[in-house]
Amino acid sequence: MLSAFLGHASAIAIASPVVSIVGIRRQTYGEMKHVGVVEKQREMPTFPQSFPMNGGDGPHSYIHNSSYQKVAIDGAKEKTSEAILKNLDLDLLNRNSDANILRIADFGCSIGPNTFEVVQNIIDTVKQKNLKENNAYIGAPLEFQVCFNDQPNNDFNTLFRTQPISSKQAYLSVGVPGSFHGRVLPKNSLHIGHITYALHWLSTVPQHVCDKKSPALNKSYIQCNNLVNEVTEAYRVQFKKDMGNFLGARAEELVSGGLMILSGQCLPDGVPKALTWQGVVIDMIGDCLMDMAKQVRNLFP
Ligand SMILES: C[S@@+](CC[C@H](N)C(=O)[O-])C[C@H]1O[C@@H](n2cnc3c(N)ncnc32)[C@H](O)[C@@H]1O
Repeated sequence: MLSAFLGHASAIAIASPVVSIVGIRRQTYGEMKHVGVVEKQREMPTFPQSFPMNGGDGPHSYIHNSSYQKVAIDGAKEKTSEAILKNLDLDLLNRNSDANILRIADFGCSIGPNTFEVVQNIIDTVKQKNLKENNAYIGAPLEFQVCFNDQPNNDFNTLFRTQPISSKQAYLSVGVPGSFHGRVLPKNSLHIGHITYALHWLSTVPQHVCDKKSPALNKSYIQCNNLVNEVTEAYRVQFKKDMGNFLGARAEELVSGGLMILSGQCLPDGVPKALTWQGVVIDMIGDCLMDMAKQVRNLFP
């Protein structure tokens, strides 16, 4: 799917069973037209069933319960820097004596602190590349603008309230509420896009997995654990659609030569989720929820 979208694009993909990271360089307008993603009608997806991470900074907030995601981010840090050093073309900046702006977006940023760490790593790497390529003295000093994107019901207040002071000195911030399955930024305005641990969120529950009469009914499971082929297929169809919309929107937002960095969890082909430790844990949580639902039904028949 990804390679079909990219057409002639130069891309790097480094994958491990836990985290895969892909750096994609956007092609020219002509090439984009060739693969048919430029003129697509803008769709504005909604969030009928989607909940954000727990807001605030209390004990149950995402801020205090995101160290698992941080491990993956730390693991991908070096590869993210490598992708930028190797693929980002700094000539894409419109350098002049008045302005020299590099715009970064973190899609599905939640409320930190992971997003701040990711963004800082990107900025440090760009600065390093800028110095190395002797670009530092061309035009005005390089300024960074960071667009923090998430669902509109994300706790953006906490995000900006808990932003480290050092980051306020390193870049200017913007909150961008909206679905990353559609356009959230102006065309040709983004130099580096980043997403981690969010692309697996589908825009909707796949068709038929809740339909009691369908062979794709996900029975008593709360996840796609790959035990029922029809269920796996329903999730595959929805993921393909969402991923296509995500890539189409980013293709419009990125400047020609810009970079999109995608990281998240993957499974090697042929390994069912049900046989991974994470799959087992989620199936167990599903069992508990089913038991609780049955008890409530017995109490209020
Ligand atoms: C598990 S959190 C990851 C947050 C952060 N990237 C990290 O690694 O810590 C996933 C985030 O994606 C956001 N998200 C899910 N679907 C989205 C969509 N369609 N558009 C924007 N954000 C979305 C959720 O609200 C949530 O904050």
